[in-house]
Amino acid sequence: MAGMAAAFLLVLLLPTVVVLSMDAAAAHSGGGFGFEATLTHVDARGGYTKAELLSRAVARSRARVTALQSLAAAKAADAITAARIPPRVSQGEELMDVGMGTPPRYFTAMVDTGSDLIWTQCAPCLLCVEQPTPYFEPAKSPSYVTLACSSPMCQALYSPMCFQNVCVYQAFYGDSASTAGVLANEKFTFGTNTTRVTVPRVTFGCGNMNAGTLFNSSGMVGFGRGPLSLVSQLGSHRFSYCLTSFMSPATSRLYFGAYATLNSTNTSSSGPVQSTPFIVNPALPTMYFLNMTGISVADELLPIDPSVFAINDTDGTGGVAIDSGTSFTFLAQPAYAMLQEAFVAWVGLPRANATATDTFDTCFKWPPPPRRMVTLPELVLHFDGADMKLPLENYMAIDGGTGNLCLAMLPSNDGSLIGSFPQQQNFRVLYDLENSLLSFVPAPCSLI
Ligand SMILES: *[C@@H]1O[C@H](CO)[C@@H](O)[C@H](O)[C@H]1NC(C)=O
Ligand SMILES: *[C@@H]1O[C@H](CO)[C@@H](O)[C@H](O)[C@H]1NC(C)=O
Ligand SMILES: *[C@@H]1O[C@H](CO)[C@@H](O)[C@H](O)[C@H]1NC(C)=O
Ligand SMILES: *[C@@H]1O[C@H](CO)[C@@H](O)[C@H](O)[C@H]1NC(C)=O
Ligand SMILES: *[C@@H]1O[C@H](CO)[C@@H](O)[C@H](O)[C@H]1NC(C)=O
Ligand SMILES: *[C@@H]1O[C@H](CO)[C@@H](O)[C@H](O)[C@H]1NC(C)=O
Ligand SMILES: *[C@@H]1O[C@H](CO)[C@@H](O)[C@H](O)[C@H]1NC(C)=O
Repeated sequence: MAGMAAAFLLVLLLPTVVVLSMDAAAAHSGGGFGFEATLTHVDARGGYTKAELLSRAVARSRARVTALQSLAAAKAADAITAARIPPRVSQGEELMDVGMGTPPRYFTAMVDTGSDLIWTQCAPCLLCVEQPTPYFEPAKSPSYVTLACSSPMCQALYSPMCFQNVCVYQAFYGDSASTAGVLANEKFTFGTNTTRVTVPRVTFGCGNMNAGTLFNSSGMVGFGRGPLSLVSQLGSHRFSYCLTSFMSPATSRLYFGAYATLNSTNTSSSGPVQSTPFIVNPALPTMYFLNMTGISVADELLPIDPSVFAINDTDGTGGVAIDSGTSFTFLAQPAYAMLQEAFVAWVGLPRANATATDTFDTCFKWPPPPRRMVTLPELVLHFDGADMKLPLENYMAIDGGTGNLCLAMLPSNDGSLIGSFPQQQNFRVLYDLENSLLSFVPAPCSLI
C-alpha cells in the first residue's frame, strides 16, 4: 500500500513522459469489417497545465450531469414523449477524425456513447458556429443524397420534420446547444492508414442551423444504442477503446467491428477479461446501463442499499450508466456519502474544508514537507459478474489549485454515471452489443 502511494505521487508530480503510440493496425487477426481509429482528448491541444486539465474536466462533467439531470426531469414531466428523448450533451471528452464525401474531406468529431446522431455543420449555413475545419459542402460531393420523409431513418428520429419531401432533423442538447438541418446519406471514411474503410452510405445530419459551441470539433458521432448511431448503422455491433491518462498527451485508440476484441491480439493486458451484461432502461434506450451491485473500500463492501443503483421502473430515473462523454464518475448521493465516509475513516490525513473553488468534495490535506507516505485504500466497483479494481490513479487526484489529495468522483442527485477519466483510463473496454456485454481488462493504453 505504501509503495503504491509513493508510486502514485511520482506519476502526478513528474512531468509527463511522452510515449509515442505505435500503429497497431497490422495486429488485426480475424476477418470481417472493422477499423481502428485514433482518439484525441478534447484538451490535448490546448497546452493546459495539469491543474487546468483537472478543473476543465470537472467543469465539463458537472455541466454534462446537470444537463442529463434536466433531461431526466423533463422526462418525468412528460413521461410518454420523453421516453424517446435520448439525453444529449454536446460536449464529450474524445475527438475522432472522420472523412466525409467524395473525395473525402476530413473533420474532427466528438465521440459520444451517450447519443446516437452523427452530424456536422453544412454550407450554406443559415446559422453556424465556429469549427476548426471548413463547413461540409454537399453541393461539391456527388455521393451526397438527401433522405425522403418516408425513409426508415427519418422515421427513427425523435421528431422528424418534412420540408418539400426532404427529411429535416433537429437535436437539442441538454446544455442548450442545438443542431438542425437535412437528414442525408453520404460516403464516410473511418480509421487510420491500413485499417481505413469507406462506407458508401451513412445517414447523418447536415446542420444548416446550429447553436452553442462545438468545443474544437466539427460535429459529433453518436455511439449510442439507437438506430441512428454509428454502431447501429454499420451493423457491426461491437467497439472498444483504450483511453490513455487524460493528463498524458498520448492519443487513445478506438477499435470498431472485427478490430474490437480484448483477447485475440497481444495487447499486454494484465488480469482476466471481465464481463457484465448491459441492462436496458426503456426511458433512456440510447445509454449503456449496467447492473452495479456495490462498492468495496479496502476489501470491505459498503452497506449501500441495492435500490440506490436501481433504475426506477416507473419513470426511468436512477440506474448506473457507463458514459465515455462524462469525465469523472458521478455516484448517486447515498452511495457517494458512504464512499466518502469510508475514505474519511481510512485516510489518515486531515480533511480539507470544502470551499466554493474546490474541484472535488472529498479532499485531504497533505502533511507539510518533507512529505510522509500516505496509505490509501483499494477501491473496487462491483458489477453483475465483474469487478473493476481501480488503480490508484483512477480514483485519486491532486487538486492543482489547493494541492489537496482528492477522491476523483462526484455526488449526483439522480442516477450514477461511470465516467471515462480517470476511472476508465488504462482499461480496454469492449461494448459487445450482440451479446449485450460490457467487457474490460486493465492495459497500458499508451503502449498499445
Ligand atoms: C480550442 O482549442 C484551443 C487550443 O487549440 C484552446 O485554447 C481553446 O480553449 C479550445 N476551445 C474550447 C471551447 O475548448
Ligand atoms: C499513418 O498515417 C499518418 C498520416 O496520416 C502517418 O504520419 C503515419 O506514418 C502512418 N503510419 C503508418 C504505420 O503507416
Ligand atoms: C475471447 O475469445 C473467445 C474465443 O477465442 C471468445 O469466445 C470470447 O468472446 C472472447 N472474449 C472477448 C471479451 O472478446
Ligand atoms: C506479448 O508481447 C510480449 C512483448 O512484446 C512478449 O514478451 C510476449 O511473449 C507476448 N505474448 C504473447 C501471448 O504473444
Ligand atoms: C419512482 O418514480 C416514481 C414517479 O416519479 C416515484 O413516485 C417513486 O417514488 C419512485 N420510486 C423510487 C423507489 O424512488
Ligand atoms: C475548517 O473549518 C472549520 C470551521 O469552519 C475551522 O475551524 C477549521 O480551522 C477549518 N480547517 C481548515 C484546515 O481550514
Ligand atoms: C443485477 O445483478 C444481481 C446479481 O447478479 C441480480 O440479482 C439482479 O437481478 C440484477 N438486476 C438486473 C436489473 O438485472
